[in-house]
This record gives sequence, C-alpha cells and structure tokens, in this order.
Amino acid sequence: MKVEIEKLISHLKTQGFVFQGSEIYGGLANSWDYGPLGAEVKNKLKKLWWDFFVRRNEYNVGLDSSIILNSKVWQASGHLGNFNDPLIDCKKCKSRFRADKLIEEKFTEMNVGGWTNQEIEEFIKEKSINCPKCDANDFTNIRQFTLMFKTNQGVVEDEASTVYLRPETAQGIFVQYKNSQRALRKKLPFGIGQIGKSFRNEITPGNFIFRTREFEQMELEFFFSPNDSNDWFEYWLEKVKFFLEKVVLIDQQNYSIREHDKEELAHYAKRTVDIEFDFPFGRGELWGIAHRSDFDLNQHQSHSGQDLTYLDPETNEKYLANVIEPSVGVERLLLAIFCQSYVEEQLENGERIVMKLPYKLAPYSVAIMPLQKQQKEKANELYKEILLDFDATFDETGNIGKRYRRQDAIGTPYCVTVDFDTENDNCVTVRNRDTMEQERIEIIKLKEYLLTKLI
Ligand code: GAP
Repeated sequence: MKVEIEKLISHLKTQGFVFQGSEIYGGLANSWDYGPLGAEVKNKLKKLWWDFFVRRNEYNVGLDSSIILNSKVWQASGHLGNFNDPLIDCKKCKSRFRADKLIEEKFTEMNVGGWTNQEIEEFIKEKSINCPKCDANDFTNIRQFTLMFKTNQGVVEDEASTVYLRPETAQGIFVQYKNSQRALRKKLPFGIGQIGKSFRNEITPGNFIFRTREFEQMELEFFFSPNDSNDWFEYWLEKVKFFLEKVVLIDQQNYSIREHDKEELAHYAKRTVDIEFDFPFGRGELWGIAHRSDFDLNQHQSHSGQDLTYLDPETNEKYLANVIEPSVGVERLLLAIFCQSYVEEQLENGERIVMKLPYKLAPYSVAIMPLQKQQKEKANELYKEILLDFDATFDETGNIGKRYRRQDAIGTPYCVTVDFDTENDNCVTVRNRDTMEQERIEIIKLKEYLLTKLI
C-alpha cells in the first residue's frame, strides 16, 4: 500500500468525500466535514459495525446516550483528575508540544506510554531533543493539560453549571448498564454497543482525520462474570480481526497487533491490545481492546451510591461484572479504508485513479448511464427501477470513457450502460470497477446479477 497522504486528501476533497471544516472562513484548525459521498461511506461503515457488533450478535444490545452527562460521571471515571496530556513549551519560540510525542516522533520505535513526567523530561535532556519549530534546546518543565472540553449548562456561567462534552462514549454505557440489563432482562455475559461523537481538546491533533478534536467512536462494553472461565478477551480480539479482514476488507499485511506491557497498562486494565495500522505517516493505533476489570462499575457504584452488582441467578452470588472493551474511532477506521482503497493505475490509454472501496462501503453500488442522448429516456427508466433496490447514481455527462473514470474515482463497483443495441436485444453492458471487464446482461436479469455480485 503506497499512498501519499496529500494526494489522498486532495482526491477526497475534489470528489466530495472530505472537506476542510468552515473552509470559506479560512477553516477551523483540524476540523473536517464529510461531503455527500463521505457521509454515505461513513454511514455505511457505522451500519456495518452496528450490524456486526450489536444487531447480529447473540449477546449484545445497543444504546444511544447523551454527550453531556452529569459531571459526577467524569469524577467517578477519573477523567476530571487524570485525563491530561503532558505539555512542554519551547522557551525560545514559545511553541507548545506534547512531551511524549516529542520523543516518539524522534524515536519512532519507542512508546513512552507508561513513563512519568520526570522520566520524559530527563530523556528529552539526555538525548538533546530540540524544538521541532526553532531547533532550540530550552524547554520548560512538563505541565498537565486537561483534554476535557468545558461548557456551561443553563444561563448562569459558574462552577455549579459547568459541564463537559464526553471524551469517550463508554461512560454513557456504564451509567446505563443496570437500566439496560434490567429492562432487557439480560443475563451475563452480555454487551452494550454505542456509536457517537466524542470530544477531546487534543494538543497535537493532526494527520488529517487521524486525530481530531471532534470525532466519533464505536465502542462495545462487554460485561461478564469474574468467575467466567471463557477467554472473552481473545473472543473479542478475534471478532475485531474478523470484522477488519472479512467485513471492511483490511489487508492483514497493513495492520499489526501490539500488546501493552506492564508499564504501559492503565492501572485498572488487566490486558490491553492495540491494533495498529500502517498509515502513510507511520504506524498508529486504530482499534484498542482493553480488559477494564470491574473498575468502571466499581467507581460508579461508590460515587453514585447505587448498587451496580449483578445477582447471579444460578449461583445466587452478587458481584460486579468485569468488562472487555473493543473501541475504535469511525474516522480513523475510515482513513485506514481510504488509504488502502486509493489506487493509481497505469493503463494503456493513460492513468486512472480508482477507489477500491469494499463494495458495501462504496457511496453508490451502481451507476446507470446512457451511451448517447438517444438512450437517455430508457436509461432513466432503468435508473428509477434500479433505485428501488440499490444505491444508484445516474451519469450522462461527458463521453463514456470519462464517465467510467469518474465512477472509478469514487469507487462505484458497477457501471451499467444503455446503448444502441439495448432497444433490440433488451441487454445492457455491465462494467466492473476493478477488472474493467464488460459483460452483456439481459435487463430482466440485471437485478439478480447485481445482487450476486455486490455481496
Ligand atoms: N473508551 C476507551 C477509549 O476511548 P481510546 O484509546 O482513548 O480509548 C479509542 O480511544 C479509539 O478512539 C482509538 O483507538 C481511536 O481509534 C479513536 N480515537 C481516540 N482519540 C481520537 C481522536 N482524537 N481522533 C480520532 N479518533 C480518536
């Protein structure tokens, strides 16, 4: 997979997938909007996740919780006290950096996740890491900076009205765990999945849609008995790998699995694995899978005073459930899929750019086109019929070669052309995006043909 990120960004913009946020006002740093085609792909991706992890999983149910929660939730979860980044300022040019990233960007094989601020400061001095902006070697000490976005609820702006935008969707699940379990009469093990926006005031956002301040997460919290002997971590790790390889067709060669060592593990986590993708700018976390023990339920139980234990109907024991959490960012997964799909191909008659998106994620499954003006009416009739069963588009401008290129560039798997012979033989020409091979198909068999090809 070789893709230059600048070329990809430019392609996604011109084709209507991703635009710079607030562009006509000069933009807003690090904000991106999803254009007509990007919104389609994003919605399809979320639906695939929801179907796989929620609707068609024997254990799980879904939830849609609020973005703004009672601030006590964030005290209990630890976010108000601990959700910080270590910041360091260059004394000469006054630029501000994440101290851990200063090291990791210079020594790309290193991961300083479990280090103390003192260890980071000492390493920066010892290795004489310079300011990436002005090259000076004169930094302040590290200060912690909260990632939580703060606002006020109601008309009075004071301490009591302070609320926060959620930095993860997970806590909304934990606080509705008991309600969901009771209402649905769920027995352990069971999971609750959720898709929604999260907000983090990231200090060093960047790399296009890889790290943004506003993003969407798809998270599953899977609750199980501490006495359960099944290895649910392995179970969910396998499910995530299956989803990546078989559902959204991520090539096994483009991702790797990194186990957190003891130093890097969060204090509550029993095990954490990061699935990392080889992005054009380097390897980066795509999907995290964590064993969160009973930490979150325990915290919410003690802060809320509510009983969050589960009464096991078989053993009559009461206990707090343990949790496995697979968590992925929608846009990060989308970026991985875009990077893998963007292909520049040399053909005999020039070059083409193809978005080899998985068929299920292509904005349109099929494009209907008249070869010439004379076939417009017939093609339009067919388009309206096809629209009843498929995500279709109608393309009539430019010569047929140009139209094929245009559909290749947005990833449409099949182009269907109504031509001079259609009137006589009731057949159309169907062209495949990847092989560019063309077949003559009877119109009455077109739906069946597309259904078998588009799975
Ligand atoms: N509830 C656990 C949790 O939020 P995380 O590792 O902080 O864990 C999970 O985030 C996933 O969310 C990451 O693997 C990544 O895919 C995505 N993510 C996190 N921060 C992000 C950001 N600033 N921009 C885009 N995606 C982000």
